[in-house]
Amino acid sequence: MDKFIIQGGKPLCGDVHISGAKNAALPVLASALLAPGTSTFHNIPDLVDIKTIKKLLKNLGVEIEGDETVRINAEKITNSEAPYDLVKTMRASVLVLGPLVARQGVARVSLPGGCAIGARPVNLHIKALQDLGAHVELNNGYIEARAKKLKGADIYFDIPTVTGTENIMMAAVLAEGTTVLNNSACEPEIVNLADVLRGMGAKISGAGTDVIIIEGVTSLVPVEASIIPDRIEAGTFMIAAGMTRGEINILGCNALHLEALINKLRDTGMKIVPIAGGLKVSCGEKINSIDVKTLPYPGFATDLQAQMMAYMSIGSGLSVINETVFENRFMHVSELLRMGADIVIQGNSAIVRGVSALHGAQTMATDLRASASLLLAALVAKGTTEISRVYHIDRGYQGIEKKFSALGADIKRIK
Ligand code: UD1
Repeated sequence: MDKFIIQGGKPLCGDVHISGAKNAALPVLASALLAPGTSTFHNIPDLVDIKTIKKLLKNLGVEIEGDETVRINAEKITNSEAPYDLVKTMRASVLVLGPLVARQGVARVSLPGGCAIGARPVNLHIKALQDLGAHVELNNGYIEARAKKLKGADIYFDIPTVTGTENIMMAAVLAEGTTVLNNSACEPEIVNLADVLRGMGAKISGAGTDVIIIEGVTSLVPVEASIIPDRIEAGTFMIAAGMTRGEINILGCNALHLEALINKLRDTGMKIVPIAGGLKVSCGEKINSIDVKTLPYPGFATDLQAQMMAYMSIGSGLSVINETVFENRFMHVSELLRMGADIVIQGNSAIVRGVSALHGAQTMATDLRASASLLLAALVAKGTTEISRVYHIDRGYQGIEKKFSALGADIKRIK
């Protein structure tokens, strides 16, 4: 298993190019199952999670080629099962459920288990699929769903769920009649998916708001489309500029997707200005401690909570970080404590007292965004930090050590 060895203390300066969004690429690649023929997708990031979804799609019988541009020939689907081995390594594998039931009338998809950040059930995906008329059974750890033809329905999500909204949007595009998704998630990745589905001939309005309306069509055609930039990767580099007392040009990002973060970072004293092709992000005189509450989009992204906590751990005062999206997303805290941070957890809040310096230590990545926060902490820590289990970070950040090295960081990958 690979490790990162990082010598902290270098201000990061220069340009970084943001890759395509993992969380947009995963549903978009799954959507190819809906249209017989070859769809082409550009700006696909080179990530372990993308390899996993490709493996899963191949296992369903479709042909796939390419890396940054991926071509998927879904003329024939020969299998309707997403096996446990693939779903357990990536929960988003459940995204094939909606397209498979819509196109094949049948799907057998392993139930994702719990994960490091909480129980993360898929009950809302299943309930909505039943609302569309599918017969769903849970057998031997698998979701088994069948429907000769899905029927449009008025669906209400108890919680705005990102992959749930995507899964059901993909199911409803081929249903008979009109589907209304109420209390939908509004993330930009959902808008990207809706644009792709519209390119295939689907009739969708309201994506990006909490009410999405879908008029079912009888068939879809292949599409050529691009993936939006990764707002979480962009946000991680923006926070790195503030933490390391640097100045980074974040190129290829979409500032409109980053409004909550930009506002918060300005409150910490950072300067963020638009430049051609992106944003110039510079540290402030000092780091003002601020409070943060994670919320569904357009609120502050839970996927940036751990990185923000690393930042606040060297703030000038007291910060309260309230996690409302996942129940157990503080796995990074115990590792940050080992680096000298002063953090107390109370329920779903973390109280962070800024310290004057963090110190290098041996640490272990526990999940994708937690590992990004350790990396940020290591970049400012005095001395050497070792981060083990970096496969977590490889799931969601393309060439992260190369991008940080190009900005002046001292980071090595040990195989
Ligand atoms: C997606 C993102 C993930 C991000 C999360 C929240 C992808 C591939 N992953 O995950 O990076 O952290 O959104 O922004 O896009 N819930 C239920 N029942 C369900 C579904 C969800 O109770 O059937 C709960 C979850 O446990 C969680 C909340 O709803 O507390 C939101 O989760 P959800 O939006 O579904 O997250 P994911 O789609 O899994």
